[in-house]
Formats: sequence, C-alpha cells, structure tokens
Amino acid sequence: MTTRSPHDSVTDPALETPGALPRIDTTVAHPARRYNYWLGGKDHFAADRESGDLIAATFPGVREAAQQNRAFVRRAVTFLAGTADIRQFIDLGVGIPLPPNTHETVQEIDPTGRVVYVDNDPIVLTHARALLTSHPKGKTAYLDADLRDPASILHHPDLRGTLDLRQPVGLLLAAVLHFLSDDEATHAVHELLRALAPGSYVVLSHGTTDFWPADRAVLVPGLQRSTETPYRPRTGRQIAGFVAGLQLVDADPAVPEPAASTTTLIEDDGSQLVSVFRWRPDGTDAAQPRDDEVACYGVVARTIATG
Ligand SMILES: C[S@@+](CC[C@H](N)C(=O)[O-])C[C@H]1O[C@@H](n2cnc3c(N)ncnc32)[C@H](O)[C@@H]1O
Repeated sequence: MTTRSPHDSVTDPALETPGALPRIDTTVAHPARRYNYWLGGKDHFAADRESGDLIAATFPGVREAAQQNRAFVRRAVTFLAGTADIRQFIDLGVGIPLPPNTHETVQEIDPTGRVVYVDNDPIVLTHARALLTSHPKGKTAYLDADLRDPASILHHPDLRGTLDLRQPVGLLLAAVLHFLSDDEATHAVHELLRALAPGSYVVLSHGTTDFWPADRAVLVPGLQRSTETPYRPRTGRQIAGFVAGLQLVDADPAVPEPAASTTTLIEDDGSQLVSVFRWRPDGTDAAQPRDDEVACYGVVARTIATG
C-alpha cells in the first residue's frame, strides 16, 4: 500500500492509485472545490455548492471574481514567459486543474518551460495527473505541501530536480494568501522571496473589501464562521506590504518591459495596486466588471538584488 506524508510529491502519474489518497471529506466545503464550482468546473460536492451559494448571497460577484482572477493569472504568466523571458515557475495553491494550466500557457510560448505546482488540499492531489502533462522538452512536478511551511517546498527534492533556483523564477501566489494569517503569509512570502534569484517575479492576487461599503465588509467574519473558511480579505496597504520595495510591473500595457519593472518600486501604501481585471487587459474580455464586484487586487513585481 502507498503511504503519504504531508509533504509528498507526485512526479509519476502511476502513483495516483485510487485508495492511496486519504483525508477527503466530501461533507465539508473545501476552498479548492468551491472555487472550481464558481468557475463552472465539475469537481465539487453538495457541501461545496452550498457554501459557494452562501458566499455568493453576500458577495454576488464571486463567480466573476474567480473568472477575472484566472484571466489575470493567465495574462501575467503570458507576460512573464513571453516579454520577461521567465522559463521556470512555482504555482502555489494551484487549485483543481482547469485549462489553461500554468505549464500549458508557458509551454505554448516555450516548450522547455518548467513548472512546480503546490497545494495542500488532498482533492487537488487526486487531480495532479492533469498537471503532469508536460511537453517532453519541459518538466512539471506536483508537491502536496503547505505554504505555511515554505522551507518544505523550497528544499523539496522534486522542486530542486525541476527548477534551478540560481536562475529567475516566476512565483505565483494567486488567490491563496488570503487563506493564511498575517504572520503565516508574511513568513511564507519572506522566505520564498529570500530563496529566489534577483530578476525573479511575483504574481500576487488577493481578496479585499476595500471597494465595499463598511456595512457590507462587516459581514465577512460571520460569513467565514458559517462557511468554515478562514478567508482573510486584506486592504491594499496590507497586500502591498507583502511586496513593498520590489519593482512594480506597470499595470498599463502601454508601458513596455524593461521600463515596466525597473523604474518604480512598490510603495507600502497600496496606492499602486489595481483590481485584477485592470492589470494589462488584453482585449479578450468582453465583460465590464466593477471593482466592488470583483473585490480582488492583482500585482506583478520583480525582485532585485539585496546586496
Ligand atoms: C481560490 S484557490 C486559487 C487557485 C489558483 N491559484 C487560482 O488563482 O486560480 C486557492 C487554493 O489555495 C490552496 N491553499 C489554501 N491554503 C493553502 C496552503 N496553506 N498551502 C497550500 N495551498 C493552499 C487551496 O487548496 C486552493 O486550491
């Protein structure tokens, strides 16, 4: 019988034998399955749908928010793999696979692209096969690991066997930090950034109530309790704090690289942050969302040598 530790990885699809994957409770909503429900996927159970509908009653834009977040990640990855010449990525809190997954976007630009996926949800692990469909010239790996323990990710042999951390990396933290406490999120980002070569990029999206009136924002803690999800929306100032001092990739597509990320440093007051759908829109989205509807910031930043 196959046994798994909390930090197991999947590099061989043959390891994904039914019955080898414990810990899946279909009676309790999981963020990954609920997100899949909002995105119109098919990997969710009644508890996920109930919880998803409960949240949608207070936050009617949540489905649009999920779609806009995905679109932001796709545009950011395309920018990094194309314009910024990044060839290796860590996708943290990847969620249940839904094309185009990061390696598909990257390898369409360069088949040699390499991606390490990470999630701590057992349901995502059961779907990891879909993330291991690398082009033969590239490579992907999946780690069943927890962002709250960044060292276990950074030192994992499968990450080290897939990526070269002496070279720049694209670090994706999309819609995941808002599941961590302030201390956990700060620690994770700090440790991850410390491990990356200068010239690496961070793609960060994060829920916020900045665009909501106070009488609506105040409902979030009650919603958390009733859905059993430790969702922590943060202010633009708090979110900017995670990447303050890094170089800002301008959200305006008219600002070309390298100017986009060599002139402006990210301030810690949040004033440079934009909603995910305002980050380098590519004209493919016919929707005209509102900031309060999407309630999610997106930022892309480049790391610099710290001496
Ligand atoms: C809302 S989904 C976002 C999926 C994807 N990153 C995206 O933006 O489309 C959040 C994912 O983060 C994962 N997650 C939450 N907390 C985590 C943790 N501490 N470590 C690793 N993954 C985590 C969840 O299991 C879920 O799959």
